[in-house]
Amino acid sequence: MELLRVTNLVKKYGSTNAVNGLSFHIDEGRCVSLLGANGAGKTTTLKMLSGLLEPTSGSISFQGTKQKDIRQYIGYLPQYPSFFNWMSGKEFLVFTAELAKLNRKEAEERSEELLERVGLLDAKKRKIGGYSGGMKQRLGLAQALIHRPKLLILDEPVSALDPLGRREVLDMMREIKQETTVIFSTHVLHDAQEISDDIIIINEGDIAISGELENVIEQYRQPIIQIEFDSDASSWIKEVESYSFVSEVNIQGNVANISVTDMAKGRHILLNEIVNQNLPIRKFELAQTTLEDLFMKVVKA
Ligand SMILES: Nc1ncnc2c1ncn2[C@@H]1O[C@H](COP(=O)(O)OP(=O)(O)O)[C@@H](O)[C@H]1O
Ligand SMILES: [Mg+2]
Repeated sequence: MELLRVTNLVKKYGSTNAVNGLSFHIDEGRCVSLLGANGAGKTTTLKMLSGLLEPTSGSISFQGTKQKDIRQYIGYLPQYPSFFNWMSGKEFLVFTAELAKLNRKEAEERSEELLERVGLLDAKKRKIGGYSGGMKQRLGLAQALIHRPKLLILDEPVSALDPLGRREVLDMMREIKQETTVIFSTHVLHDAQEISDDIIIINEGDIAISGELENVIEQYRQPIIQIEFDSDASSWIKEVESYSFVSEVNIQGNVANISVTDMAKGRHILLNEIVNQNLPIRKFELAQTTLEDLFMKVVKA
């Protein structure tokens, strides 16, 4: 079932088009990653989804209808959350719960339940100021879940963390996504690949690539032949670029990455030429482009 649909979403800041006509939807039960370089428009998009920022134009509908205020359905963890460092973790959650209009007793119960869920029960009486980055971020997750939202929006939830904190929060997200629909942003492909079902790659405020993660990987997988030379072979590589079975050539130092449309033919012809012309190669390898290659290409464009 479709939970949220975004149509032609635009946000302008003066003459800057931060978000430039985004359209996508999120199905219930999915974990969606919004991937893009710094400045791509991730935060702006997520702020609009969470109702904190008014779009310049375009629409957001929730469960098939346009609603004035969808904030009750949304849990949101900002990119730079701020906590009251003098409060304990428990006090902060109870405070958040009361803001979300839970009564005192519900607030108390829900806070305890979430503290346990995010592994902070033992630290609940400690001041937030003494928490590690990972603990703060887990408290942030608990805060975002306090009113049992249907959609959890996380803006770069692991970007500011050290490797340990990163692991803690990714594991937590893996659990949360079993029960709650999640969209999170990241500029790190690896995080997107690790836990998302669907991926949306944005660049300059617009979608570059989107779809089910497995499909996207499959769809953009391309055979490449990687050849490493002992010395310069650029004149031969120049020729190779014009062959009909070659779609693209990238050269980095003495390594040529040759994208081919026909691996068997490519291997046969290139190997023959290498032997016949006695070219100084060190390595000849058949490989496939990865999502990383694709992402780098999109982001650089
Ligand atoms: N409040 C603002 N005023 C002016 N420009 C902004 C503002 N917020 C973001 N931008 C610009 O909008 C673009 C997208 O920013 P942002 O959504 O923060 O990207 P991301 O989260 O992907 O790094 C950037 O060019 C940024 O400089
Ligand atoms: Mg951001």
